Amino acid sequence: MLPKLLILTLVVALAKSEYKYETKYFKVPLDHFGYQRSEEFQIKYLVNDDYWNTNNGPIFFYTGNEGQIEVFAQHTGFMWEIAQEFNAKIVFAEHRYYGTSMPFGNKSLDKEHVGYLTSAQALADYADLLDHLQDHAVKPKYPVIAFGGSYGGMLAAYFRMKYPHLVSGAIAASAPVHMYPGMAPCDAYFRIVTSSFALEGQSCRDNIKRSWKVLRNFATSANNTAWLKSKWNLCDPVKNTTDVQQLVDFLQSMYETLAMVNYPFESDFLVPLPAYPVRVVCQYLNETFNNNTVLLEQIGKVLDTFTNYDKKSKCVDYKKGSDYGNLDASGWDYQACTEMVMPMCTNGQYDMFEVEPWNFTRFSEDCHAKFGVYPQPDAARIAYGGDRLAAASNIVFSNGLLDPWTAGGILNTVSESVEAVVILNGAHHLDLMPSHPSDPSTVVYARDFHKHRIQKWIRQFRKMN
Ligand SMILES: *[C@@H]1O[C@H](CO)[C@@H](O)[C@H](O)[C@H]1NC(C)=O
Ligand SMILES: *[C@@H]1O[C@H](CO)[C@@H](O)[C@H](O)[C@H]1NC(C)=O
Ligand SMILES: *[C@@H]1O[C@H](CO)[C@@H](O)[C@H](O)[C@H]1NC(C)=O
Ligand SMILES: *[C@@H]1O[C@H](CO)[C@@H](O)[C@H](O)[C@H]1NC(C)=O
Ligand SMILES: *[C@@H]1O[C@H](CO)[C@@H](O)[C@H](O)[C@H]1NC(C)=O
Repeated sequence: MLPKLLILTLVVALAKSEYKYETKYFKVPLDHFGYQRSEEFQIKYLVNDDYWNTNNGPIFFYTGNEGQIEVFAQHTGFMWEIAQEFNAKIVFAEHRYYGTSMPFGNKSLDKEHVGYLTSAQALADYADLLDHLQDHAVKPKYPVIAFGGSYGGMLAAYFRMKYPHLVSGAIAASAPVHMYPGMAPCDAYFRIVTSSFALEGQSCRDNIKRSWKVLRNFATSANNTAWLKSKWNLCDPVKNTTDVQQLVDFLQSMYETLAMVNYPFESDFLVPLPAYPVRVVCQYLNETFNNNTVLLEQIGKVLDTFTNYDKKSKCVDYKKGSDYGNLDASGWDYQACTEMVMPMCTNGQYDMFEVEPWNFTRFSEDCHAKFGVYPQPDAARIAYGGDRLAAASNIVFSNGLLDPWTAGGILNTVSESVEAVVILNGAHHLDLMPSHPSDPSTVVYARDFHKHRIQKWIRQFRKMN
């Protein structure tokens, strides 16, 4: 297992057109921070003015993360649900180098063009867009609230930190702002993944932990190729060690995703899944399976639930990796290789995975081979407040304790206006999802908390004006 370039948000859905918006484009400079390259390109943004009080209603601004912005617009029900109450304008801005906001078309991620993919450039795009939405007023008329989940949550928080004169406050959901080197233990993420499974029964965790060795031994024996392909319904047979590794990586990523999207309701995500999917798959691992064949049969059922809950998939395409189609998040690998360095490791003792230490040298070499860049492990910490967030204001950091990304989240209130909300039984940015009858009271409370803070920030803005 190579050090992985992790995609933050696999939590993506096939766009259901529940929410209506207008798609617009806005011209931004390729480079906000120098004056030698004068090229411009368009970023996409989505707008809905249905509820907006154009006199002084707020602008709810989603700071788009690594993917097509429509995906986030369709799955941030919280913003849509409260917009009416606040008479807000809704804006979802697409992050440069994702979706259709490509400065160099399909060549944007080539080595010679990818350099303008940075969080700072993206925030500067958002700042220019807001200035445009405020009609370039010297004293902006509309209070702006930033929202985001995951990397988008980091951006929402950073947007408030860097542009406090443009943004009145930020709801930063499941934002791993402490995931940078030296700021969080590298094994915390996988410990949380593991605990989500252990919560459903120790045997669930133990079976998964034991399965890696069993699978590797089993899969490398030539006589088992056909069995595995047929029992697990694999698209391609597992023929060599590369295939075995890809299958192992696929399974590991499956467990991560299941933990991340362990929501209390059935969801039609990129991977359609039942309510509490971890509980559902752990039903197949509810006792100790000493017979290896039986253990693999049971893991096969987990795989089937994950890949074929809607009974539409022909076979398990384990070679596809974690680069799921809809999100189109390939730029994230570059970001993880430059400023978004987030060390991860497993030790096999406190987690249910194979041992994989964090090796920055190797990570760095892989990045250089792929993109011709070396990661800057301190850059984001230096740029965005590090562990001194008391210098910031008007940010709510929310985290669900079922969410592996909580490993890098802010769980303690930092100051009077940089506050933490912990959602005991919530998965990855559950609080931004549309409300649902099965929501635990903790997330209902979190959303209420957000609303109160938004009201407060809007009041502050109006007082200032
Ligand atoms: C890239 O874009 C160009 C211009 O739009 C198009 O002609 C070409 O087919 C595209 N290439 C790929 C690989 O998609
Ligand atoms: C496969 O099975 C045959 C027949 O049972 C046996 O002779 C052979 O040694 C096995 N090969 C491997 C690689 O296990
Ligand atoms: C595990 O689940 C199966 C199927 O529901 C059930 O038959 C079996 O008794 C369960 N085992 C334990 C130890 O609960
Ligand atoms: C393990 O389970 C398989 C499939 O149910 C069965 O064919 C085999 O005999 C079992 N092996 C042992 C050692 O019990
Ligand atoms: C880390 O990776 C480098 C480069 O691949 C390798 O030379 C080194 O031995 C690794 N270190 C450890 C502790 O595994």
